Amino acid sequence: MRKPTFDMNIFAERRKKLGQEIAGGALVVGSHPELVRNHDVHFPYRQDSNMFYLTGWEEPDSVLIYRPGMKPETVMFVRRKDPERETWDGFRYGPEGCEREFKIDKAYHIDEFAKVAPQLLKEVDRVYYRLYKNHELDERMQGVLESVRQMQGRTGYGLLSIHDADTLIGEMRLVKSEYELTQMREACEITAQGHLAAMHFTRPGVTERQVQGVLAHHFFMKGSAREGYGYIVASGNNATTLHYNFNDQICKDGDLLLIDAGAEYNYYTGDITRTFPVNGKFTDEQARVYEAVLKVQKEIIDFVKPGIVFKDLHEMGTSLLTDAMLELGLLSGRKDDLIQALAQKKYYPHGIGHWLGLDVHDAGLYFKKGEPRPIEANMCFTVEPGIYIPADDTSAPQRYRGIGIRIEDNIRVTSAGSENMTSSVPKEIADLEKVVGKA
Ligand code: GLY
Ligand code: MN
Ligand code: MN
Repeated sequence: MRKPTFDMNIFAERRKKLGQEIAGGALVVGSHPELVRNHDVHFPYRQDSNMFYLTGWEEPDSVLIYRPGMKPETVMFVRRKDPERETWDGFRYGPEGCEREFKIDKAYHIDEFAKVAPQLLKEVDRVYYRLYKNHELDERMQGVLESVRQMQGRTGYGLLSIHDADTLIGEMRLVKSEYELTQMREACEITAQGHLAAMHFTRPGVTERQVQGVLAHHFFMKGSAREGYGYIVASGNNATTLHYNFNDQICKDGDLLLIDAGAEYNYYTGDITRTFPVNGKFTDEQARVYEAVLKVQKEIIDFVKPGIVFKDLHEMGTSLLTDAMLELGLLSGRKDDLIQALAQKKYYPHGIGHWLGLDVHDAGLYFKKGEPRPIEANMCFTVEPGIYIPADDTSAPQRYRGIGIRIEDNIRVTSAGSENMTSSVPKEIADLEKVVGKA
């Protein structure tokens, strides 16, 4: 027998808040399917972020139908209890446990979805559902919507209109509550301390995989259930691949090591990148590129306050990093012409950051009706400028080839500026040189 570890009032309150925006309609949210890893082994299961956000439910093969103001208001379809499967794979709540433990008005076995869902949806005037995320559920929904249409008889009504659920929920997820900020700060702090442990461990001859192991060990030891995304442990030229994930090389004397890794804590993730020398001492060339990126990162973080738009941060990143590339001799010409031609993308091919929360690239609109949206207090995002100079880039000065640097912190917007939730992991050159390799 298991008990949920989360306070169910949190999820009920979220549903209530969302319900105010969809009165008369219904929200349908599905879990992710389980994925086969190989033969009869599955990837570790992690619930869909929206399903978790609205229910705290962690099992696969489940659907939530939420009809604010109607009875029953919150309905779940879940796996049946199955003593044999539970002997092999572990406890299932079943419909009764779902109702009892999760503040759900009515729960059914998932096989009853095709029969029961039309009865629930025939009473609403529109449905919020994200199509094409879960193929199997899409097919079921197609049948349900057609059943609802047939139930209308010759009234002239066609299919219920479908509105995108993820856009709706994403807007709510974007502004974090005090409870969420507590989880995020913990995820950020575990992540920061994991990076610090990795720095202590690193020295010439260790493998990228061993460094990954240090991060994972630290994350798990501090209460993280899993990482928020795949570990990027990239030494030397590997750092010029943005999401390098082979993590199978030896860290060499004289190379830099870029680590982009985040611990997930109660479903919220940190997302930190640090870059430092494997042997603990920056070369002059490495230091020049590093300082240029660090200066840009700090300037952008200093600019953050409510009312500015994310697009300004992107444009600042582009402008300041292009200045840096000109100073380093990576690019030549007029800055405006270079940016117009997107020349800076050769060495900085990504954006300045992204919303952060339950997903590493979290939900929420960056633009509304074509206009960039002003950022508000308690939105959280990353600031992660970088410069990446591939080893085989013969147009770059020889001394900089094979250097890839990204510096990434996790920022919360406050009422007047910002809080850096990942400031406890060093990023100044002098501070990094004090800790790398000093176990
Ligand atoms: N860790 C992925 C990213 O920084 O966007
Ligand atoms: Mn990021
Ligand atoms: Mn990252």
